[in-house]
Amino acid sequence: MKTARLDLLALDIDRDLGALHAMFSDPEWARGGYMTPTASVDESRERLVQEFGDNGGWTWVLRVRPDEDAAGVIGVFSDQGSSIRGMSWYLRRERWGAGLMSEAARAVIDHLLQQPSITGVEAWIDSRNVRSIAVARHAGLDLVGRLPRTHYGEIAQSVVMGRAAEPSDPVTFGISPVLEVHDVAGTVRLLCELLSLHVHFQFGDDFARLGFTEWNGQSGLEVRRTTGEVSPAAVTVEVGVLVDPLYDTALAAGLIESTPPEDAPWSRRTFTLVLPEGHRLTISGPLSGA
Ligand SMILES: CC(C)(COP(=O)(O)OP(=O)(O)OC[C@H]1O[C@@H](n2cnc3c(N)ncnc32)[C@H](O)[C@@H]1OP(=O)(O)O)[C@@H](O)C(=O)NCCC(=O)NCCS
Repeated sequence: MKTARLDLLALDIDRDLGALHAMFSDPEWARGGYMTPTASVDESRERLVQEFGDNGGWTWVLRVRPDEDAAGVIGVFSDQGSSIRGMSWYLRRERWGAGLMSEAARAVIDHLLQQPSITGVEAWIDSRNVRSIAVARHAGLDLVGRLPRTHYGEIAQSVVMGRAAEPSDPVTFGISPVLEVHDVAGTVRLLCELLSLHVHFQFGDDFARLGFTEWNGQSGLEVRRTTGEVSPAAVTVEVGVLVDPLYDTALAAGLIESTPPEDAPWSRRTFTLVLPEGHRLTISGPLSGA
């Protein structure tokens, strides 16, 4: 493929490893992408093989004409059996800021989305990596989700940017668990304070809908008043911060039946807080890291 300034060639690890290793091993480059630099050529080779090795040949190096060295690489991750394909892009530091990766990403993604086996592409990007988020936007990707992340002891979030081959409105766009409680205002206060939730709608003392952010159009939690018997609900709440301080706050708020934080085998740290009516909210956050 060719763009205005670039030749995009299929990755050939033996030919391109030298140039790409110079990029992967550059500590400042890695810091800019919230990544870790590679320590050896072998590690750089391993990284290329692991990320792109078994992806059906959909990896391209960027050559800025007339230069013949790889200035960067863009591709989909190895096949994980899904028609939504994850992808990533990396550009040598001296080439940053000239719109080159945006130019490459637009061409590559337009091409990928014409493939019958690909229904969409997505990129997981550290929320602080504004350059990469801009590349995604230039290539027509939008924010579709958010993931917690622990990276060398640092807690961060990844934004999930995605673009579908054929965009469509989802049939279901939200699921809202319902908590029946005796004291709506008190429960709302507690949950907003503990989990930084926001009240989207409140109907007197009878009903409130809580959301994760102040923005409209998200599903959340419904809190409804009842005077009768309550069927306790079990709900998992995903958070992007360490859960231990939240546990301390839950205990201080008198929720002493709550179970202490522990690391789950699926790489999450969780504790369960128990509301006075018996509802069990499992708070699931990132591992505390090394
Ligand atoms: C992410 C990366 C590929 C971007 O490549 P690039 O060719 O420099 O990107 P572009 O020049 O197309 O710039 C993209 C946007 O970054 C923004 N940008 C450029 N320089 C910036 C700076 N110093 N600070 C903040 N934003 C900046 C610009 O707003 C630009 O958007 P615009 O065209 O709307 O102005 C490159 O920075 C990189 O390799 N980073 C390290 C690896 C990495 O993070 N990969 C992505 C992993 S998900």
